[in-house]
Amino acid sequence: MKPKVFITRKIPTHLLNKLEEVCEVSIWNHEDTPVPRKVLEEKIVDAVGLFCLLTETIDEELLQKADNLKVISNMAVGYNNINVDAASKKGIIVTNTPGVLTETTADLTFALLMATARRIPEASDYLRDGKWSTWSPMQLTGQDIYNSTIGIIGLGRIGEALAKRAKGFNMNILYYNRSRKLEAEKELGLQYSTLENLLKESDYVCIMTPYTPETKNMIRKEHFKLMKDTSIIINTARGGIVNENDLYHALDNGEIWAAGLDVFEQEPVPMDHPLLTMPNVVTLPHIGSASIATRIKMANVAVNNMLQALNGEIPENIVNK
Ligand code: DGY
Repeated sequence: MKPKVFITRKIPTHLLNKLEEVCEVSIWNHEDTPVPRKVLEEKIVDAVGLFCLLTETIDEELLQKADNLKVISNMAVGYNNINVDAASKKGIIVTNTPGVLTETTADLTFALLMATARRIPEASDYLRDGKWSTWSPMQLTGQDIYNSTIGIIGLGRIGEALAKRAKGFNMNILYYNRSRKLEAEKELGLQYSTLENLLKESDYVCIMTPYTPETKNMIRKEHFKLMKDTSIIINTARGGIVNENDLYHALDNGEIWAAGLDVFEQEPVPMDHPLLTMPNVVTLPHIGSASIATRIKMANVAVNNMLQALNGEIPENIVNK
């Protein structure tokens, strides 16, 4: 008998076929609509494998219904949507998709940094709205990137890939991390810093750390007060790491200059969210890893993780402790 696998969103056909060769697959076959919780609750009862996305909350309550589940394969590097401890208690393997999205996410982070610093969306709207009547010395002026200081909070794979891009722009690079990365320091000329010093010195503060109970609300009121009034914060990690209410007030009070956000505490971000009213906030709908090639690679890694676990192997990308 083939093991039952539930997939919570449409995935590329060739990868669906790969799973169907050895599994009995049922799929929420929609592109833009997340699986309703009720459907997930029904499907989890029989499923041996669950292929899910960061849009699904896999909490203890759901896992209580999952008496046949052996593996949860999350198609993302972040897995804060899953209660891994509760899964581990039930002997359920949890996997993620690191590595394949590193460069693509670093590209987007740097693109967002540049778009925010040089006010690109605002300038584009200015032209399209018919406001461009002349060239003017201080019109739509932004912040320089070249030769400035970037502070990277979280020097994992993506943080390090971001540092490589920053080096190409001759930026002075500070980083704050749980542990020092001596090789990266040597190779890229990075300087290890306390969080406080990084916030004080950086022109660009980039959040690149995973979302955990320790990093929840990590950047809040008192941290914005340390930052330069010309500084820019970029978050392509997870929304809850930066306190959004405090960020709004820091921008409103002129404590910092701008923000570039690819992630929000609640996603999709509510359209009446105060941050969306600010002209100096550049917003994106969580597209850090969204290149065609990378998303296919992520789905492929997630399928392989699933197949390895169903085959009784320890998957390459297991995240249970
Ligand atoms: C992840 O993988 O965690 C990103 O947020 C989406 O690619």
